[in-house]
Amino acid sequence: MKTVFMALCILALFLSNPAYARVKTAGNGDSLNFDVETIPPDLRQTFNTMNKKCTQCHSMEMVVTAVLTGVCPETKQPFDRQTVKAYGIRMIHKKNADISKKEMRDIVVLLNRLLDEQAKK
Ligand code: HEC
Repeated sequence: MKTVFMALCILALFLSNPAYARVKTAGNGDSLNFDVETIPPDLRQTFNTMNKKCTQCHSMEMVVTAVLTGVCPETKQPFDRQTVKAYGIRMIHKKNADISKKEMRDIVVLLNRLLDEQAKK
């Protein structure tokens, strides 16, 4: 519970600071997600896939928080270009994960694009 609270605080901090508001979000709590407007048109299909496949076990909030803060909400490990692929692989190896390698690769490309966007100042 404490970690969830911390994650929300960090998230609130980032969301309230326009300097970090590169990647826009929509909704809140469990319905928090990336704003579809910030998704490049060529990656919208992948965005749909991510919304379907990455929410089988947790909400998109987990992914949004990782991208916005650069830190994984559960393990506090860095979430960046170097580690995002490893997380993708870890997620498809989870029990009952219904994600193909191709879908995971596409999602990693999308997440990297969002990380690049978020890194711009
Ligand atoms: C089969 C269940 C399952 C699916 C599908 C799944 N996840 Fe997860 N995810 C988890 C669990 C369980 C955790 C909790 C921390 C852990 O075990 O890594 C987690 C944690 C995370 C974290 C935080 C990791 C950390 O170290 O704090 C991120 C980021 C993440 N998932 C992204 C994704 C993305 C992106 C997808 C889609 C490609 C996805 N997940 C699909 C089960 C899943």
